[in-house]
Amino acid sequence: MPSQRLLTGDRPTGPFHLGHYFGTLQNRVRIQNEGAEVLLVIADYQVITDRDLAENLVTHTEGLVLDYLAAGIDPTRATIFNHSAVPALNQLLLPFLSLVSVAELNRNPTVKDEIAHSRQSAVSGLMFTYPVHQAADILFCKPDVVPVGQDQLPHLEITRTIARRFNDRYGYVFPEPEALLSSTPLLLGTDGGKMSKSRGNSIPLGATPDETAAVVRRAVTDADRRITYDPATRPGVSALLDIAALCQDRDPHELAAEIGDGGAAELKRTVTDAVNTFLAPLRARRTELAQDLTYVREVLREGNKRANAIAETTLDEVRAAMGGFR
Ligand code: TRP
Repeated sequence: MPSQRLLTGDRPTGPFHLGHYFGTLQNRVRIQNEGAEVLLVIADYQVITDRDLAENLVTHTEGLVLDYLAAGIDPTRATIFNHSAVPALNQLLLPFLSLVSVAELNRNPTVKDEIAHSRQSAVSGLMFTYPVHQAADILFCKPDVVPVGQDQLPHLEITRTIARRFNDRYGYVFPEPEALLSSTPLLLGTDGGKMSKSRGNSIPLGATPDETAAVVRRAVTDADRRITYDPATRPGVSALLDIAALCQDRDPHELAAEIGDGGAAELKRTVTDAVNTFLAPLRARRTELAQDLTYVREVLREGNKRANAIAETTLDEVRAAMGGFR
């Protein structure tokens, strides 16, 4: 999609794993290489929506930048920034909040779900309003497309609603961005459940080959020696086959047939090799970049500067459209 602008983002809560890579990171790099302008927001304020404290924020932020760069995001073309470093972006929250009702905020299914899993003692106002903050993350740069997972679609809907209502009330400023749903099926963890850091079933992109082998070794399989691909009846075995198949760009049935009667041990060896081979170039770049974080910090500083320039222009347009605000 040449000459398109794409924005998406992540919360800095921990390192990216293989699920993130196949679910979104690979796609972002592909779209960038096709000529789109990519902006990536590291949504640090969002970390304190469902927990009281943001821990290791600097480490997690720099870790995300390392993952982006190692995966192929090119900082001479892409803009990587923290939303906490962009005051004008955050100021859009005030007019935007006036465009949505409390009832609408109350109805958001993703917020409801996050409240249910929240680690906060009480639901904060920030939790309640974060979809509107996310609308500011998005609309400040007027992107054409926003690649997101299924769970983020309600936020995209509220973003589009805010754009429409702003334009109706004050005159045209904001194009309505399109959501771009990731087409890759959800990659399951080594236990057949959702791949997630907190479940101990994920393979971080930056893990060493030995750490990778250890996660795969812990994977839950079953007693049937003959390896077959059947996600419904053999979730553990099939999740492992999926991981290896994605890394080797192959069909999981074919891979299963090849392992045949080799059992879980052979399956795990195959998966470990597939992941370590696939990630080797990415990991080599990541290790090299991690040795001197000066460059990573410079990338963020540059990105924050660019994001500020864009946000200030948009905020000026917003204030002019609204009349009398300064
Ligand atoms: N809410 C997103 C998540 O939890 C992260 C995010 C913040 C985001 N701002 C965004 C995603 C803007 C897309 C666009 O994953």
